[in-house]
Amino acid sequence: MEREKILVTSALPYANGPIHLGHLSGAYLPADIFVRYHRLKGSDVIYICGSDEHGVPITITADNEGVSPQVIIDRYHNMNKEAFEQFGMSFDIYSRTSYPIHHETAQAFFKSFYEQGLLVEKKTMQFYDAKAKKFLPDRYVEGACPKCGFEEARSDECENCGAIYDPTELVNPVSKITGEKPELKETSHWYFPLGKFQKRLEAYINEMSEKYGWKENVLNYCRGWFKEGLKDRAVTRDLEWGVKVPLENAAGKVLYVWFEAVLGYISATKKLSLEKNDPEMWRKYWQDSQTKYIAFIGKDNIVFHTIIFPAMLMAWNDGNPDKYVLPQNVPANEFLNFESKKFSKSRGWGIDVIDFLKRFPPDPLRYALASNLPETKDTDFYLKEFQAKNNNELADILGNFVNRTFIFARKHFDNKVPKAANLRDIDREMLKLISEYPAKVGALIEKYKIRDAVLEMMNLARAGNKYFNDSQPWKLVKTDKQAVAATINISLQTIFTLAEIFEPVLPFTSQKIFKMLNAKPVNWLDAGKPQLNENHQLGEAEILFTKIEDEVIEKLYNELTAGSQKPQIAYEDFDKIQLVAAKILKAEKIKKSKKLLKLEADLGGEKRQIVAGVAESYKPEELAGKRVIVVANLKPAKLFGVESQGMLLAAETKDGKLEIISPSENVNLGTRIK
Ligand code: MF3
Ligand code: ZN
Repeated sequence: MEREKILVTSALPYANGPIHLGHLSGAYLPADIFVRYHRLKGSDVIYICGSDEHGVPITITADNEGVSPQVIIDRYHNMNKEAFEQFGMSFDIYSRTSYPIHHETAQAFFKSFYEQGLLVEKKTMQFYDAKAKKFLPDRYVEGACPKCGFEEARSDECENCGAIYDPTELVNPVSKITGEKPELKETSHWYFPLGKFQKRLEAYINEMSEKYGWKENVLNYCRGWFKEGLKDRAVTRDLEWGVKVPLENAAGKVLYVWFEAVLGYISATKKLSLEKNDPEMWRKYWQDSQTKYIAFIGKDNIVFHTIIFPAMLMAWNDGNPDKYVLPQNVPANEFLNFESKKFSKSRGWGIDVIDFLKRFPPDPLRYALASNLPETKDTDFYLKEFQAKNNNELADILGNFVNRTFIFARKHFDNKVPKAANLRDIDREMLKLISEYPAKVGALIEKYKIRDAVLEMMNLARAGNKYFNDSQPWKLVKTDKQAVAATINISLQTIFTLAEIFEPVLPFTSQKIFKMLNAKPVNWLDAGKPQLNENHQLGEAEILFTKIEDEVIEKLYNELTAGSQKPQIAYEDFDKIQLVAAKILKAEKIKKSKKLLKLEADLGGEKRQIVAGVAESYKPEELAGKRVIVVANLKPAKLFGVESQGMLLAAETKDGKLEIISPSENVNLGTRIK
């Protein structure tokens, strides 16, 4: 049989923050399960991912921290790569869009479109910060929404009422860089004519979804876009950070991040080819019409993967002899919530992968997430449910079945596989059941029904336990050792099948079980046949899952939801914080902000400007002369374009206001507080 050739990608996460459990559920865990299954089945599969390292949010983080974007992307690229590794993601490469090969690849696409005469140059009016001498991309401008008056609206879209408007309509716009009022200045950009591709895109999506069954949520989304009618899309921006526009009259312009990020899948595969000393290898996947290309993403990425990226590939294929395959399926997931609320970095809601894996091993997390994937609608991650999945399913069903079988094999059969002779009906039924599972589970995975597949995996472990119970080996061991031998033999065969079909979800546990069996995985399609010969020597048994106590979950819940219990720190960590007694000299409002006040503080001879979020609790005139405690060595940051050179200590009162902590006059200004 010809090996199926499969190319799998997962959305490239922004290197602008740590990945959390919601990310895993959307685009990563389902893809990893799909890939691991195909590897066991013997498909020729390659799995591509990496960091998306451009875009305005990264430059904003860098500005806020007063460092270069390179510092930010290095930090989060390494952090996320590490988190994925610990979680057991089996990427063939975790690349970066800052690599030169990516810049070259993206520029080649742009050039090809330009030379084909596809790109349209248009002049528009854009916000410009005269003081910073910079054009301001959308997220660098804030103002009030022209529809509902919401004060922190973006330049073209209101987070509060959902209105979309022209940047010129924004009321009282402010530059986030300098806090100045930006002017409108003419600039020119290149536009990709998406509309020209609409007919072909519709035909492509119809064909693929008919042949390969696209998900309803994805199709609905696409239909919405087609109904509106596809429009020209700007593919360049006035920015320094990004892939430079490869034209002579384009200084200060880069490719729009989404235009180049999707090409990151291709450049990552090229990078992998170079690392493998097989520079043309990438073409064997991307440019072979036999390749099945599957793009795993979260729902917020649908338009880019079903419409924009395919249109770009069509445009390339029109103008070049080497032709790319288009995605055969884009099985986008919905979102995962944490304890019934949206994950939110800014509100500190949720938990990062790295932090979760400091407390629990990866397989129970993979199992809990996989059995609750947001495949058709948003789902919730509850810590209590995680605990229940670990304790009542992994430990009590799978772990228990493996454990009791191994105890019997060691105690009564010399830790060897005993002979199965004179089979009873119950034995034959069990063997038949095992033989059905690999195909059953495989078919579900191939249809992207990962939740159902995981349910079936555990069903086989359940059946194994029931078989063990019904066979009553502990009773028969005194009267009918031959029957017990059959039970243990068939239980061990079942454990082999379980180790194999659970591998995509529980790779670490599967490896342990194979070691205990002293065996290696076989082809997926053979995993339902008895694989262990009579007299085969077994390895050492180990405990597979540890139960999680209620206290552990409760403590973590309190920590994550109330923000109370932080992990212990050493004295040296505390000593790094320089707290100083100070006095507020004057306070004033910050234009257009409800929460912030601009303060001037005296730190004992040294004056500092501090932006504090206390405007809803204090009037500016109440604050002059007030004694405060200042974190004096906090890195300066800009809030609403105003630099803040420190922070005040304050606490929430019973009625939800903020109270500034105030030392008495006995403490001199500038005295260090320890
Ligand atoms: N960085 C984007 C996000 O996290 C996803 C980019 S997917 C890519 O939403 F294909 F464009 F790379
Ligand atoms: Zn609004």
